[in-house]
Amino acid sequence: MPPPPHVLHPPFNIVRLSHVELRVTNLAKSRAFYVDTLGLQVTEEDDEAIYLRAMEERGHHCLILRKAKAPAASVLGFKVYEEADLDRAKSFFEAKGLTTSWVERPFQGRTLSTRDPQGIPLEFYHRMERLAPIHQQYQLYKGVKPLRIDHFNCFTPDVDASADFYAQMGFRLTEYTEDEETGRLWAAWMHRKGGVHDMAFTNGRGPRLHHLAFWVPTPLNIIDLLDLMATTGYVAHIERGPGRHGISNAFFLYIRDPDGHRIEIYCSDYQTVDPDHEPIRWDLKDPQRQTLWGAPAPKSWFEEGSSFDGVEIREPSLNAQPIVAP
Ligand SMILES: [Fe+2]
Repeated sequence: MPPPPHVLHPPFNIVRLSHVELRVTNLAKSRAFYVDTLGLQVTEEDDEAIYLRAMEERGHHCLILRKAKAPAASVLGFKVYEEADLDRAKSFFEAKGLTTSWVERPFQGRTLSTRDPQGIPLEFYHRMERLAPIHQQYQLYKGVKPLRIDHFNCFTPDVDASADFYAQMGFRLTEYTEDEETGRLWAAWMHRKGGVHDMAFTNGRGPRLHHLAFWVPTPLNIIDLLDLMATTGYVAHIERGPGRHGISNAFFLYIRDPDGHRIEIYCSDYQTVDPDHEPIRWDLKDPQRQTLWGAPAPKSWFEEGSSFDGVEIREPSLNAQPIVAP
């Protein structure tokens, strides 16, 4: 299947990815990881949940940690440009035969809940409580100095279908990995906000959340985080990297939180706002697509991810595999 073309006037206008809710089994352990180690800022907390934002963010939350019996991802959140986009989004999903509902969410205005065709739980809102800027309160910067949430990456059993659906919502393809034998997409990176991606899809058992990523100021912040994690009991939580991605050209590190949710620390990809920005094709067997320096990713990176609460996981329809580290 050819990669999906850009839809420059989509039926509703998504500004960017916004937030994710993760179910975690021990709030204190998660707080030690996300607040004391990564340096995210607490904006609200009680016995059931912790709301967090990164240093540049003016919206109330980019990550919600909710206490639960088992780890899972609950929902991926996106901000739309104006209130009327929520009604347009509702019509779009219902025309596809997908169920929608209006839900109450703390600190958010009217919020539309739905699922994409693969089953990924999504929510859309326009208004979120706005907070005072803290990006120049340098005494608050800690850990890896996270500036903002950057993207989600999800396993999907059908990357062609997922990429096509998100293209219809106006997500524009920036880079993609193709399986030479079948001509099918193995992975796709798609954006709304003008970077390489707000949302990426990886072929695999899914749908599952593969990771969420935070943008940090420089690669040196990633080195500092590695030193901190290696000497504060988190050495086993370092999964892959640091390194330079071929795809996206970003400097990266993958780590796992106390429940195994995967977090990417990410910086310095490139601008993609031109409406005629052409996507870059990569071959699945090219080891430099994963890491420009050639090191393959570990097996866990291709197999492990966070299930979405209550969503059935299916085997991928494409069996092709990239080169994997032993
Ligand atoms: Fe990523």
